[in-house]
Formats: sequence, C-alpha cells, structure tokens
Amino acid sequence: MSLKTSTAILSLTAAALMMSACAQKKETPMSSSITKASFGKLADGAAVDIYTLKNAAGMEAAITTYGGRIVSLKTVGRDGKFADVVLGFDNLEGYLGDNPYFGALVGRYGNRIAKGHFKLDGKDYKLAVNNGVNSLHGGLKGFDKVLWTGREVPGGDPSLELTYVSKDGEEGYPGTLTQKVTYTLTAANELKIDYSATTDQDTVVNVTNHSYFNLAGQGQGDVLGHVVQLSAAKFTPVDAGLIPTGELKSVEGTPFDFRQPTAIGARINAADEQIKLGGGYDHNFVVDGTPGTLRPVARVTEPVSGRVLEVSTTEPGVQFYTGNFLDGTVKGKGGVAYAKRSGFCLETQHFPDSPNHPDFPTTTLKPGAEYKSTTLFKFSVQ
Ligand code: GLA
Repeated sequence: MSLKTSTAILSLTAAALMMSACAQKKETPMSSSITKASFGKLADGAAVDIYTLKNAAGMEAAITTYGGRIVSLKTVGRDGKFADVVLGFDNLEGYLGDNPYFGALVGRYGNRIAKGHFKLDGKDYKLAVNNGVNSLHGGLKGFDKVLWTGREVPGGDPSLELTYVSKDGEEGYPGTLTQKVTYTLTAANELKIDYSATTDQDTVVNVTNHSYFNLAGQGQGDVLGHVVQLSAAKFTPVDAGLIPTGELKSVEGTPFDFRQPTAIGARINAADEQIKLGGGYDHNFVVDGTPGTLRPVARVTEPVSGRVLEVSTTEPGVQFYTGNFLDGTVKGKGGVAYAKRSGFCLETQHFPDSPNHPDFPTTTLKPGAEYKSTTLFKFSVQ
C-alpha cells in the first residue's frame, strides 16, 4: 500500500470515527445539571457566584448571588435555536453600575410605598425614599443590591436556594427578616420561583423578580409586537407618582383590557389618562381568581420567533411594565443599548402601597407566620 493510500485510509477512518462520535453525542439525551462559577468580587472583596441551571431540553437559566438576579435565560424558538430572552449584562460590573433592576429580586417591598411611610401596630415607620417622594423596590439598597447566600438544593430538578437576612431597621423596615428564594428549572421548561420569609417582629413584605423579557431575544428591538393576554378584569389606577388611588377599576373599554390577546403596541399611546401617567403600561393588574392559589396571570407570544411565555402566580397582583423608562443609556449584553420598550416585566406582587391601603390584601408578616409566594414562568413555542 502506498503511503498516500494509507494516509487516505487513516483520515477516512478518523472521519468515520468522528462521525460516529457525533452521532453518539446526538443520541445521548442531555441531562439536567446545576453548576457554580465565580462571577467576580464586590468592592469589599466578597465573592459573587453565578449558578447555571440546565434542563434536559437544553433550556438554561443563569442566576447570580448578587441581587439574586437572573443574568440569562436561554429558551428555544420555533427555528430550534436558543436565544437569551432577558435583558442584562455580560459581567458583574454591569450589574454594579446604574440599571433599572435587570433580572433582580426586589424587596423587602417590591413597588412603591407612598412617601416612604406607613403605620404598623400604631407605630410610624419611615423608609428610605428613592423615587421622588416615594420608596420604590425596597429603598436605596434593596434586595437587588445585596449579596445572597447560594445553596444547590439536592435531588430533583436543578434548583438554587438563595438566602438573605435583612437586619432590623434596614432601609427603615422593622424586624429581622430571613428571606429565602428558590429558583427551580423544571423538565417542562418552567422557571419556578418560590419565595418564603419569617420575621422576629411585625413587618411588611412583598418580594418579586424584576426580569425584563424580550421573547425575540434580548437586544432584538422593542416589544410592541408581542401579543399579551392577562387574566385580569380589574387594575389599580394610579396618581402622578404611580401610587394607587385605592380604586379597583374595571378594564372594560380601556387600553388595560388584555383579556383577549392584544399587541403591546396596539394602545400604548392611547389618549388615556392612566396610559399617560404611566408613560405606557406601568400598572398593577388584579389577577382573577383566589390569591394564594397558583393560577394563570399572563400569556405572551412573540409572532416571529414563536416563543410563548406563560406566567402563573399565587400573588393577588402583577405589575405589567413596558420598559417605558429605558432610554438607550444603559448598554447591556454585547454592548447593545437598551432602548425604550425593549423589554417588558411581569412582576407578580401584592398591590403597590398596600401598607397604606387597609382594603388591599395585607402585606403584614408576624413572628411565627411564614410568608409564602410562588411564580412560574413557563416557556414554549407555537
Ligand atoms: C417598576 C416600576 C416602574 C419603574 C421600574 C424600574 O416596574 O413600576 O415605574 O420604576 O420598576 O425602572
């Protein structure tokens, strides 16, 4: 056999081997996993981690212990390709800089408390004010800006438990609050978020996640073409400071009626007082059904990619926010400038300013009781 021929046979054999290795790889079903890596350090030297949860279908969620933030969420589209559907940054530095709660856990109190003031058991509490005269999303250093302790939950679906102990008086809130948040990625392409908390003094609590979604893929323009359906017959109208007036208003005949699937952009510039106050949608919807039971909140579809997001929650409300304050100044993943309405949020929650509205479902937590809340983000394709 000539040298040439034997080389040819050898490379053919190598190619065949490679092909069978590839075929084998394809046939081997992917398994679910959770891995931990370093995401950098805070100014005080504290180590920040990033956990990556994967399921057998290839869906992936990366979550950092800084602010408990969802850094990336890769879901499949109609074309079979995965895209990252949440706004955010490639590295910790991005999250440490100025940004509107990308992917973050927000608390102790997600959303606004009027004038940063409430009364509990006859006592006045003054919170850190950071949104005009109001307190927003927990104050100056809320749950989005603290370091959580991560723990992989063994057995079952890939699951990450985050714990943060908020000290008595932190940001003005009474009581030591032990907050836990567990992110679980199920085999059915659901990112499940379980919240629980206990306190040693009467306090208020309302924790949520502030992810900005773009189902076409983050950085792929605005979300006005996304089609939204909300299980909400009522919403809570607001004043100029986006504080609820106290009314539960029917959505009937308003741009807030999403009971039938409607494009986000269809009525976002309507000549409607509430739309004007929010600069678009930035309102709390009253979720139909019984609070405390897991029930449907929203179904969002993106016609081009075919991606579908279904949200369900045990919470009484959901803040539907259309990224009206994004203005292109924040440069996110890959240096993309996040323009106005390039993401939407569905923040499952108790109603804003509940501590000052005795008629709203209560946000008071007492020692011996446990705060519990669950939200599911389920992804599919149509
Ligand atoms: C929430 C609020 C908005 C805005 C964003 C962050 O969704 O309701 O008004 O503050 O957070 O920019």
